[in-house]
Amino acid sequence: MCGIVGYMGNQDATPVIMNGLRMLEYRGYDSAGICTMDSGEVEIRRSSGKLVNLERLLKEQPLYGNIGIGHTRWATHGKPTVANAHPHKGGSVVVVHNGIIENYLLLKDELSNKGHKFLSETDSEIISHLIDEKLKSTTSLEEAVQQALKELQGAYALCILCHKDNKTMIAAKSGSPMVVGIKGNEFFVASDMPAIISNTREMVIMEDGEMAVFRNGEVKFCTLDGEDINKTSRIVDWSPLKAEKNGYPNFMLKEINEQPQAIRNVVAGRLREDKGDVFLEELGLNNSGLNAFERLCLVACGTSWHAAMAGKYLIEEHCRIPVDVEIASEFRYRNPLISEKTLLIAISQSGETADTLAALREARSKNAHIVSICNVVDSSIPRESDGVIYTRAGLEIGVASTKAFTTQLVALYLLTIRLGRANGAIDLKKGQEMLAALNKLPAQVEKTLELDSQIEEIACEYLTSWDAIYLGRGISYAIALEGALKLKEISYIHADGYPAGEMKHGPIALIDREMPVFILAPNDRHIVKVRSNMEEVITRGGKVVALCSEGDNETGKRAEFTLQIPWAGEALSPVLFTVALQLIAYNFAILKGKDVDQPRNLAKSVTVE
Ligand code: G6P
Repeated sequence: MCGIVGYMGNQDATPVIMNGLRMLEYRGYDSAGICTMDSGEVEIRRSSGKLVNLERLLKEQPLYGNIGIGHTRWATHGKPTVANAHPHKGGSVVVVHNGIIENYLLLKDELSNKGHKFLSETDSEIISHLIDEKLKSTTSLEEAVQQALKELQGAYALCILCHKDNKTMIAAKSGSPMVVGIKGNEFFVASDMPAIISNTREMVIMEDGEMAVFRNGEVKFCTLDGEDINKTSRIVDWSPLKAEKNGYPNFMLKEINEQPQAIRNVVAGRLREDKGDVFLEELGLNNSGLNAFERLCLVACGTSWHAAMAGKYLIEEHCRIPVDVEIASEFRYRNPLISEKTLLIAISQSGETADTLAALREARSKNAHIVSICNVVDSSIPRESDGVIYTRAGLEIGVASTKAFTTQLVALYLLTIRLGRANGAIDLKKGQEMLAALNKLPAQVEKTLELDSQIEEIACEYLTSWDAIYLGRGISYAIALEGALKLKEISYIHADGYPAGEMKHGPIALIDREMPVFILAPNDRHIVKVRSNMEEVITRGGKVVALCSEGDNETGKRAEFTLQIPWAGEALSPVLFTVALQLIAYNFAILKGKDVDQPRNLAKSVTVE
C-alpha cells in the first residue's frame, strides 16, 4: 500500500513529484523512489525509510527531466529495503504501483521461464516485466500495457514510463484510487487530490478499468480494450491545507491541542437550538427518509471503528434504533444482511481505507443507503456515498489519529440528535440539553489538556512496563479500546482494552505489580460497578490509574494515580476521556524516545486489504 505520483509537463519533474510524495507519506514511509525521463533515458533514485532519505539522495545525485513518476511505500510483499523500493524496472519499462497483485507468483514463474530476471521480492516488479514482455509482440506501449493489465489479478494504481517511447506516460487503475490533474498541457497523476491540488484544481477521477495516456501535451482516456472514454474534469473548490507544526515539537501534540477548535468546527453552523435539533442537510435525508430505515450499520477500521462502537452506544441509547458495528475487512467478505432498509454509515478519517471502501460497495450492491462520516473532503468514500458528514478536523498528519477521532465522536453525537429528533425519541427539551452540553465541550477539552503534567508523572512511573490494560463500561469501553490502541501504536507497549465487567473472565490473570491498569470511571450510571472492578484489581496487587470525573473524590482513593476529568454528561464525557488517554500514550512514547508522528510499520491510510 503506497502513494504514487506522476508528472508530465514543462517543469522540472523532480520537485513536483517530491512535493506530491510529501503529501502522500501518510500512506506509507517504508521506502521512497522516483524515476525521471531525460533525453530518452530513464534514471531512478530509491532509498529505504522515510522520504527525507530520498531527499538527501537527490541532493547528492539530482535527477532532471520533465516527465517522472514517484512512489512512497508501505511494504506488503518484500521487506522495506532499497531493492524492494519502487520504481521497479523490467527491461525498458518502469512502474510505480499501489495495490497488491494476487497472481504475481504465477506470472513471475512464467516470466522467469522467458528469461526475465527479478531483483526484488515485490509483487509490483512483475508488472514492469510483463509490460516489457508484451512490448516484444506489440507495436505500442499503450497496447502492451493493455495486454499486460488484463492478466493481472488484484488491485493496482500504476504510473508507467518506457524509454523506448520517451514522450509517453501511462496511468491506469483498478481497485486502488487515482486522480489526474490537468493544467493546460501539464498533467499530474496521484493517489489522491491533496498530493497535486497545489498545482491545479482541475481534476479527473479515474475509475476502475480505465487508463490515461499522456503524450505530447495531450491526454487520452481509454479502456483496457482500447476504446476511448470521454471523461469530464471537475474543478475542486477547497484549498490545500498546509502541514505546519506551529511551534509544536511534532504533529501529534499539535493535533491533540487543536481539538477544542476542531470540535468548534465540526459543530459550527449545525446547531438548531430553538428546535433542539441539528442541521445535517448533507445527509440528503429528511425526517421520513431517516425514519424509513429499520437499522443502522456502522462500518470502519482502526480508530474509526472505535468511533463506530461509541456511536452504537449513543444511537441505540438515545434513538432506540438497532445499530450493528462492523469491522470493514470482515464485513466485506461475509455476505452481510443488508437491504434497502439499512442505513450504512462508513466512518473514515482519510476516506481512502480500502476495506471501508469495499464494505461501502458491498452495501451498495445490496441497496443500502450510504452516508459517510469523513475528514478528507472529496476523498473516495464520500464521493461514493449518498450523503456525508464532514468532520472538519483539518489536516491530520500524525499517523495515530487524535482530533479526527474526537470529531468523529462529535459527528456521531450530531447524527444521534438528528435521528432522535426525526423519530421522536429525543424530545425538544432533551435535544436542547444535548446541544447545551455540546456548546460547553471545547472549553472542557481545553481544561482536560491541562492534565498533561500530571500525566507525564504517570508515564514516568510506568515507563518500563511491557503491558497495560484499559477498562471501561458502556460507552467508555469503546474509549478504553481507543486508549489501548493509541498506546500500542506510538509507544509499542502492548495494551488491551476490555469491558470492565469482562476482566474477571481472563485479563485478571495478567494483573501484577508492574502493569498499569487504566480504569475509565466517569460519573455515569456504571460508576458503582466500575469501582467494584477497580477493587478487584487492587485486591490482586494491581496498579490502578483511575480516570474519573471532576468532583468525584471517592473513586480514586485507592488508586496509585487519579486524573479528574471535567464532566460533560454520559454521552460527551468520552471525548474528554479520549483526550486524557491520548496524552497518556503521547507521554509514554515521548519518554521512550519514539517517533510519534510516524510510528514503525503503520500508515495513516491503508489502501490495500
Ligand atoms: C490506519 C491508521 C489508523 C486509522 C485506520 C483507519 O490503520 O493508522 O489511525 O484509524 O487506518 O483509517 P481511516 O482513514 O479509514 O479512518
